[in-house]
This record gives sequence, structure tokens and C-alpha cells, in this order.
Amino acid sequence: MNDKKNATLTVPEIDPYFYADSNTLNILNKLHKISERHPVNILVAGRQGCGKSSIVRQFAAVHNKPLATFQVGILSEPGQLFGEYTLEDGETHYKQFLFPMALQTPNCIIHLEEINRPENPKALNMLFSILSDDRQVWMDELGLLEVAPGVIFFATLNEGDDFVGTELLDPALRDRFYVILMDYLPNEVEKEVLINKAHISVDQADAIIDAVNTLRSNFELSVEVSTRTVLMIGEIVAAGATLKEALTTSLQTSKETLESILLALHVKNGYLEKGSYEYRRF
Ligand SMILES: Nc1ncnc2c1ncn2[C@@H]1O[C@H](COP(=O)(O)OP(=O)(O)O)[C@@H](O)[C@H]1O
Ligand SMILES: [Mg+2]
Repeated sequence: MNDKKNATLTVPEIDPYFYADSNTLNILNKLHKISERHPVNILVAGRQGCGKSSIVRQFAAVHNKPLATFQVGILSEPGQLFGEYTLEDGETHYKQFLFPMALQTPNCIIHLEEINRPENPKALNMLFSILSDDRQVWMDELGLLEVAPGVIFFATLNEGDDFVGTELLDPALRDRFYVILMDYLPNEVEKEVLINKAHISVDQADAIIDAVNTLRSNFELSVEVSTRTVLMIGEIVAAGATLKEALTTSLQTSKETLESILLALHVKNGYLEKGSYEYRRF
């Protein structure tokens, strides 16, 4: 994890078809201004696949800043982001990871992914002082680490069935962030993204958006269709799949729910229907 020997921090490429509402963009511009005076922390919350990671990447790309992303969701102990002890020629050495380097890189965008679910909540302890006004942390192994000027911390947080809102995040941590709430794109914009990113026709995009709308508005089915899923559907349709095949392979749901979905969408030959497939050797 993050331990590439010659890891370098790079500026990501701009996504020419990334859309966000003007309110969000205005706020991000203001936060960017503040970051020129002192480091800023921004929490991006929203449902799975709504574009949280993408907006962080796009922010770095547009402002020409290096991006470093760290999976907080898999952390189990406080020092884990910083480095580890390794044994070389019978001697123990402390090997520094990418995180301390990112902290000390001016203007670096540091993305803490899935901050709501570290395996062990104590794993966040060392982040507290870095995100506080002190902007520094002391480590026996590395000495005093100070956050470089212009650094912006973005934390992303998945809201879903098991996690609603930012209130479950440790208040001491939450207090240190500006919050940006995201949601799925409106239909016309999502269609634009679909046509341009999945390379499908306007008619195909319309059919997909229609189906997705039916699913999103049917609460009994309770399937969430994220922007990511919509793009997956689009890509497999672009590769020649029928809408039914695309839905069947892209929606992560039970066979029963899938059957109801296909019925609701009037897609003929339900997934569970027997006898509708010929079996061949693979
Ligand atoms: N607003 C958007 N404009 C264009 N593409 C988007 C947008 N939101 C999401 N996507 C696309 O959907 C996919 C999932 O987005 P991602 O940022 O990984 O979601 P999250 O981090 O919220 O789970 C990516 O391929 C991304 O390019
Ligand atoms: Mg993400």
C-alpha cells in the first residue's frame, strides 16, 4: 500500500466531460482561494458512484496540482499511512510511505478515501493533528512533519444504507472540514455524460436513461443506480449488448429483484425464465 519505491506525485488529466453544479463549483473556487492562505480540509459526501472521487481528481487537474489518494477504509492502525519497519540485511529500517511526502509537497491535493470506514477508528488518530490548525505531527521515526503551504485535504465519505449523513463521523474530525454534498446528476446531464463517455447514440442513451429513471423512482425495488452504474450500462451497450443484457450484468441485485425490474421495464423474457437460453461449450 502506497509504498512504491520511487513514487512521484503527478497532476491528473482533466476529464473533459465532468459536470458539477455551479453552486458546488463556486464553493470550490472560494475554498481554493482560502487554501492560498492556509491549508484547507474539504469533506465530500454523497452516495456511492455519484462522482466524489472524480470531483477531487478534477479539482487537482483543473488547478494543476499533484494528487495523492489514500484508502482510509483499509487502515487498521494510526501510523500505517506514514511508513513501516522493514528488515534489510538483518537490520530494521523505517521505510517512509507516500503520505509523509505528500504532506510536505506544496499545493498537493491529498485525498483521504472512505474516511467513514477505517477498520479501526483509532487509525484516524494521527490525522487529527495534521488536519487541525497545528498542521503538524511528531513521529519518532520521521521527526516533526509539517503540512506544506497550499495543501488541500479532501476526504470522501460514502452515504448509503449503513451510513447516512456526516453525523456519524467523529465530531472532532468532522469539525475540521468544509462539507460539500453531492448527488447523482440530473437526467439531461447524465445523458450528456453517457453519450460522451460511453460513446453510444442519443437513442441508446435515451433508452438507458428511461430505464434508470424507472428504477430510481420505484422505491419498492430499492435499487440504487449510480452514475458509475449508468456508465457501465452504457459501455456494455456500446459493445453491442441489449438493454436487458446490460441491466442484468450491471445492476448488483438479487435474481428476484432483477426479475421484477425487467418486468417493470417491460423487457421481455425475464432473466429467470427457463428454456430461453441455448447452452454451448465455452
Ligand atoms: N458529475 C460527473 N460527471 C461526469 N462523470 C461522472 C460524474 N460523476 C461520476 N462520474 C463518473 O462515474 C464514475 C464513478 O464516479 P466516482 O467519482 O468514482 O464516484 P464515487 O467516488 O462517488 O464513488 C466515474 O467513472 C466518473 O467518471
Ligand atoms: Mg470514490
